[in-house]
Order: sequence, then structure tokens, then C-alpha cells
Amino acid sequence: MAIEIKATGKSVPSTRLTNDDLAKRLATSDEWIRSHTGIEARHIAGGETACSDLALEAAWAALTMALGQEGCEAKSLEEIALTLDIIIIGTATADYYGCPSTACIIQDKLGARNAAAMDIAAGCSGFIYGLETAAGLLSIGASRKRALVIGADVLSRFVDWDDRGSCILFGDGAGAVLIEKTGNLSTGPDKRGLLRTILRADGSGSEHLVIKRGGSRNAFKPGETIETIPHLEMNGRAVYNFAVKAVTEIIEGLLKEERITIDAVSRIVPHQANARIVAAAAKRLGIPEGKFFLNIKEYANTSAASIPIALDELNRTGELHKGDLIMTVGFGAGLTYGGNLIVF
Ligand code: COA
Repeated sequence: MAIEIKATGKSVPSTRLTNDDLAKRLATSDEWIRSHTGIEARHIAGGETACSDLALEAAWAALTMALGQEGCEAKSLEEIALTLDIIIIGTATADYYGCPSTACIIQDKLGARNAAAMDIAAGCSGFIYGLETAAGLLSIGASRKRALVIGADVLSRFVDWDDRGSCILFGDGAGAVLIEKTGNLSTGPDKRGLLRTILRADGSGSEHLVIKRGGSRNAFKPGETIETIPHLEMNGRAVYNFAVKAVTEIIEGLLKEERITIDAVSRIVPHQANARIVAAAAKRLGIPEGKFFLNIKEYANTSAASIPIALDELNRTGELHKGDLIMTVGFGAGLTYGGNLIVF
């Protein structure tokens, strides 16, 4: 049995906010942002667009790709949606607080009546956690065959746009992959699909990336006037140090567990948080930076969406080939971190 990625999709809002746009209203500059992060622009969702809206577009794009493939038994998007057994979305910016889950909203809009649906709250590692969770559910459920794994976030709605130390980093977007349980093997010379995953967390760092208001710890009170919207508070330096260590540890761990060297890996698809984090980890590991796929320049940090958006870009530009071994690696609020090793 193997759990294989069959199709990918993404959705990025059309409104593009450049560093120069930000510099018009903040004490920052294109030069500072580029040199400290590698970011040139980010895309921002319009006021009416919620997390599930972007996620839905990415989901339809993945299902459309799958429909066009040889051997797909479904004849229409409606039919293929009905074949879904699981929908999982990793997000830190759900449509609603806790209930209903964003995944249930997506399930309804897709017409995926046969699918179980749930959200995963693992910050920017949400897609990595979601992929492993969906693969596990497919593996243990004899009748389950197909899952949609989405990463989507609208962090622009939860950043303090007056805080130049954090708002410059984030953008909105969604990415999705359709995975399927097949008769191929996930071990041996012809191994396919998701080979292994490492999931880790260090909750002692939870204060370093936190939206403090609105939850049960710090709920809004009747009559309360709030001065700022609930927003992400970040200890940038602490997150940076954690991230470099996390990326290094996960890459080393996956290579060791799979008993391979980095030469066997075609591409590393890292969470797109800061190009300097990737460069620092690459240097520590002695891996050429070119091995890492980066699109942070255009989208900034789209949180749980960054890895599936990158996978979709690589897939659609023909840079990924069937049989390529790829590695994802990411980190985020929680603090969480992890990575997947996948034969594409
Ligand atoms: N424009 C201009 N100057 C800025 C700035 C901006 N956008 N943001 C911060 N600065 C200033 C600071 O005020 C500080 O000035 P000072 O020395 O006069 O006090 C100086 O730049 C250095 O600040 P510092 O916070 O030490 O910068 P840094 O090199 O650590 O870079 C981050 C800041 C946020 C880019 C970096 O810490 C980072 O990327 N951290 C990880 C964040 C992350 O990935 N979060 C999401 C995880 S999923």
C-alpha cells in the first residue's frame, strides 16, 4: 500500500502588496525587507474572502487536475468530490472560532457528502501535520481511499499592520493536494508516495507566536471596547533561532530514518517564512541552497498554505517529475515543526 499525491492546486488573491506599498505607511523599506527576508510582495485577500473561500478554490483546482488524469473513474467534478473520504485543512485563521470547523464548510461547498472533515491547528506546520494525519486515516480505514489535504490562511486579517517587525512577513493563500491509497509499495526499490514523516512540537515556545485575544483564555467581555484587532504577536529573534534549528533537525532526521543522503532528494520544499532561515539551515547542513525551492519573494509567508502552494507551482511548471523524491520541512506557531519525505 502507498499513499500517493495525485493532484495539486492553489489559490492566491489577486491583490498584490509590494514592499514599496508598505514603505508608504510604515518606517520600512524595500531594501530592508528584501535583505532581511527575501520578500518582495505578498497577496492580500479582499474583505469578503474568508479562509474557506481560498481553500475551496485550491481544492477545486486539485480536483480539476485529478479529473483530467488517465484512469480517473469520475466523469465530473461533482462525481470526484463524492469520492472523497477525508477533508483536512491546516489553518490558523479558521472562518470561525472552533465551530464549525472550516473543513466542514469546505465539505459542504464541494458537495463531498461522503467525506469526514476536520481542521488541524498546527500553525504554519498545519499542512505537514495534515498530510500525515490524512495518510494515517487512509491507512487504517480499509474502505477509505481518497483525501484532500489543504493548507490555507488569511493572516493579513490577524497581523498588526502598524508593527513593522511582523506585518511585512505575511501574505494570504491556499494550497491543496489530493492523495490516494494505491496498490504500490511505500518501501523497497520501487517505493512510492509518502514514505515517512516527522512531527514535533515544543509548546514551551508557545508565547513566541501568539494571538492573545478572543480565545477562552482571554475572551472578549460584553461592552468591552478593543483598541486593536486580535493580532499575532511575535518574538522574531526567538522564532528565527528556533526555525533554523528545527529545519536542520528535521532534514537530518528524515535522511537518517530513511537511510539516504541528501543526493537522493530532488527538491526540498521548505515553509516559506524567511529566505535567511533557509540559507542558514542550508549552510549548517552543507546543502546547496539551490536544492530548496523558494517562492517567498512573491507570496511572503502564507502560513499553512506555503508548502502546498509551492508543491503546486513545482508540479504545474513541470519541475517535479513522477518518481522524484521530495522533502517538505516546516515550523510554526505552537511551536510545531516537522517534515515529510514523498516520492512524487
Ligand atoms: N523595516 C525596517 N527596520 C526594521 C523592520 C522593518 N520592517 N523590522 C524591524 N526593524 C528594525 C528593528 O526595529 C531593529 O532596529 P533597532 O536595531 O534600531 O532596534 C532592527 O531592524 C533589527 O531588528 P531585529 O528584530 O533584530 O531584526 P532581525 O534581523 O531579527 O529580523 C525578522 C527580524 C522578523 C525578519 C526575523 O527575526 C525573522 O524573520 N524571524 C522569524 C519570524 C518568522 O519566521 N515568523 C513566522 C514563523 S512561521
